[in-house]
Formats: sequence, C-alpha cells, structure tokens
Amino acid sequence: MADSAGDWAPFPDLSLQYHKDRPEEAVGARTQGEIRETHRRPGHPPSRASSAPVTGFPPDAFRRDDEAPDAEFYSFPRLVTHIDDGAIAAVTQLYRELFPAGGAVLDLMSSWVSHLPPEVTYRRVVGLGMNAEELAANPRLAAWVVHDLNEEPRLPFADGEFDGAGLCVSVDYLVRPVEVLRDLARVVRVGGRVVITFSNRCFPTKAIALWHVLDDAGHVELVARYLAEAGGWTGIEMLDRSPAGGGDPLFAVVGVRG
Ligand SMILES: C[S@@+](CC[C@H](N)C(=O)[O-])C[C@H]1O[C@@H](n2cnc3c(N)ncnc32)[C@H](O)[C@@H]1O
Repeated sequence: MADSAGDWAPFPDLSLQYHKDRPEEAVGARTQGEIRETHRRPGHPPSRASSAPVTGFPPDAFRRDDEAPDAEFYSFPRLVTHIDDGAIAAVTQLYRELFPAGGAVLDLMSSWVSHLPPEVTYRRVVGLGMNAEELAANPRLAAWVVHDLNEEPRLPFADGEFDGAGLCVSVDYLVRPVEVLRDLARVVRVGGRVVITFSNRCFPTKAIALWHVLDDAGHVELVARYLAEAGGWTGIEMLDRSPAGGGDPLFAVVGVRG
C-alpha cells in the first residue's frame, strides 16, 4: 500500500455498529491496571469492517464509549510500549528517513518514549501529551506540555516552530482530528513532514466509533482523509511498513507541509 489520497466514497453507516463490533476485536490484550488494549486477529477484521474510501463523516463517527474527560483516563502513568519491537523499529526508520537531523521535532500525543533514531541529534524535541509523569520520563524531550487536544485542538506553539511532527499510535483517540491536523500545519514549517503511524491495537473505550468499524486499510484511508480535509498538507502518502517477519503491523500516513 503506497498511494496518494484520491477519490472518496461515503463512510459506512455507523448506526448500531459501535458496541457490537468491539467484542470481536478483543482477541488479544495487554493489561494496564483495569485498562485493556486490544487488537484484531490478523486477517480477521470484524465482519462489518470496511475500507471504503470516504466523503464526509457520519454524525456518530467521533463518539466514544468512554466520554469522560481524557484527563481521568490518563491520570496515572503507563510506562509501557504500545506496539512490539518490530513495529517500533519501523516507526523509528520512518523518522530517520523523514525528519531532518538538526531540526526541531514535535512528538504529538507523546509519552515516555518518542521512537526517534538514537544516533540522530535534533536541535529540539518537544512533547505534547496527557500525563506529566510519562512526559517527564521521556529522555528525548527538551520540553513538554500537558494539553488535551480533544478539549482544545489548537496547539500551544508558534507558527513554523517545527521541522517535522510525529504522531504515533494515538490518532484514533482524537475526536477533532481535522482541526488538530489543520493547526499542526500552522506550527510545521513549509516542507516539513507529519508522520502519523498506527497499528491494530487501541484502548477500545477511548478510540472513536469510526475506528472500530474500519479495517487496517480503512484506517489508513481515514487518516489520509483527515490530512486532506485539514488543508495545508500536500504529497499525502499511505504506507504499509509492517515488519516482514510478522508481529504488530505498522501503517503510516505522511504529509508534507505545503
Ligand atoms: C497509546 S499512547 C501512545 C504514546 C506514544 N505516542 C507512543 O508511541 O508510545 C496514547 C497517547 O496519546 C495521548 N493522548 C490521548 N488522548 C489525548 C488527548 N486528548 N490530548 C493529547 N494527548 C492525548 C496520551 O497522553 C498517550 O501518551
């Protein structure tokens, strides 16, 4: 899968699908206290999964099972990795290829690890996330801020402040993704890249309804659609960087600030 964002057909009808689909996904889990992060069985997406390309978002697209403030869910640190080593290496390789050495990088929806290549020095790496303890433990961050993007999609950064931005295994939690990515275009300089990566795991109660009814290919097309809707991003690419030997798949959507 390596394509550019093109024509879109309507999203599937979400009515009655949200709650029904989740149990089918929960075939694997990593326990974090009472929170389970689940993934789909490879090759067995839920029966209603759709990779249909899209125009417009259905009314319930961004509803979540847990609509409590995100600050509650992220009130305690999770010093874990959310994808396996092979998938992390794929993220790191993308960053190695796409973020300029010596540049300023924004790690959006960050935690205690940024997955940046260890051998590369950046002028400045800034993290934005929900848990102060996680962000404080991140050795790559020169600065960080706790900021709820679902409450306030506008980013607390200056115009053109960054040479690139990463958003790893978290885009499925955004309820206003187009607004966030539109403002991200403001803070990334012309020619800088956004690298949005994801696998097939999520915290199901915090992922948006639309994520649950799409399969892997549908997720890739959805995220490309977000970038196209946001504006300011060109050369949108959809990539499958899943490691050859199996394990967690790794998909990416990349855009260049136009
Ligand atoms: C699955 S973790 C991924 C963390 C990290 N990017 C990584 O690759 O390991 C989800 C991250 O999204 C962040 N996040 C979730 N909801 C958010 C929100 N409303 N605003 C900002 N960040 C959020 C959390 O702080 C958490 O670090």
